[in-house]
Amino acid sequence: MSGAREFLTALSRTLSTMGLYGDDHPAARRAVESAWSALHDLQGDTPGVQFTFLSGEVLVGDEVLPELEGWEWSDQLAQAGIERIEFLDRVDADQFDRLLGDLAVRLGIRSAASTDLRQAGTAPVRFGRVTLSDAPAGIGDSSLAVAGLSYALGDSREAVAWMHEEVRAGGKLPAAEADGVVRSLSLAMHAEQAMVMPLLQLKEYDQYTTTHSMNVSVLAMALGEYLELGSAMVRSLGLAGLLHDLGKVCIPEEILNKPGRLTDAERKVVQQHPAAGARLLLSNSDPLDMAAVVAYEHHIMIDGGGYPHLPDARGTQYASRIVHVCDVYDALRTRRPYREAWESERAIAYIEGRAGVEFDPAIARSFVAMMREWDRRVQTSMI
Ligand SMILES: [Fe+2]
Ligand SMILES: [Fe+2]
Repeated sequence: MSGAREFLTALSRTLSTMGLYGDDHPAARRAVESAWSALHDLQGDTPGVQFTFLSGEVLVGDEVLPELEGWEWSDQLAQAGIERIEFLDRVDADQFDRLLGDLAVRLGIRSAASTDLRQAGTAPVRFGRVTLSDAPAGIGDSSLAVAGLSYALGDSREAVAWMHEEVRAGGKLPAAEADGVVRSLSLAMHAEQAMVMPLLQLKEYDQYTTTHSMNVSVLAMALGEYLELGSAMVRSLGLAGLLHDLGKVCIPEEILNKPGRLTDAERKVVQQHPAAGARLLLSNSDPLDMAAVVAYEHHIMIDGGGYPHLPDARGTQYASRIVHVCDVYDALRTRRPYREAWESERAIAYIEGRAGVEFDPAIARSFVAMMREWDRRVQTSMI
């Protein structure tokens, strides 16, 4: 990782120098050579390397580079539409020079006229915006493929599935992985200039809990941001959303994935998942209090319906009410063995109609307003 930091620092130094001097100035040549040699060292045995620049963070592959948190160049690159640089293979000195020229033009350091025409497609390097869909976003040159982020969400889904397996097998909740997933989801939401909601579509019924947990996490964070709750609270909501159904690991899979309606006895078993989830989260060495409360309360309706039964349903926590709305929305939007997925507008109308009965009225109203405003920005991806 230190090689990555050295390369990026050398790259930024080179781009600054290019802004001050001409290409042939000895200082510029020295800077270019040192950046190229840092890249050469970094690529070592594994020439494929990719950098992502997003809202004050730098990722190498899918790992955050903590030393460069708040690095001013990551914002500058991202704002210029360079959210990712991917090296597919080693680049020679000429290809590196051309890359620098292209980056300098994109950054506004120099004009396009002073740069040699790019030889499209010859360099094993590409850069552009991160996008969640397969469709390349227009970044001025169609020969530049745009890197996709869907793999990262795929990795997250596997991490969530693994997390559930660990807990099901009686292990501890891998809290660091849970935090990592929330962080990836948050990055994915802010990956584009305009915020998007990267919701996942279910491919297999047995993936329901993983897909659903990630979607509820994204929706809860989006609603938290919409309600201007502050970044620490938004992150906690993301974690609580991700873990709200953790107790389902205690439910036999035949019941969980039953292709049909549940019997009363089976429904009783399912209804134990809030308490089971809260217990698991509180038994963690570093108890996740807010997530535990949300796990316990997320099926409680404001009129006293739902489960588990509380003497005063109006006493549920604010975070639980947020996750409750997001939970129901995602459940309705998902195809189940016994019914088709609802269209977004139908699910939104359901939430609107049940405000004050099932849901906290103010939260439901905000959710409905947010979804109507953002529906066109919701991107679904199959992973
Ligand atoms: Fe649940
Ligand atoms: Fe749920």
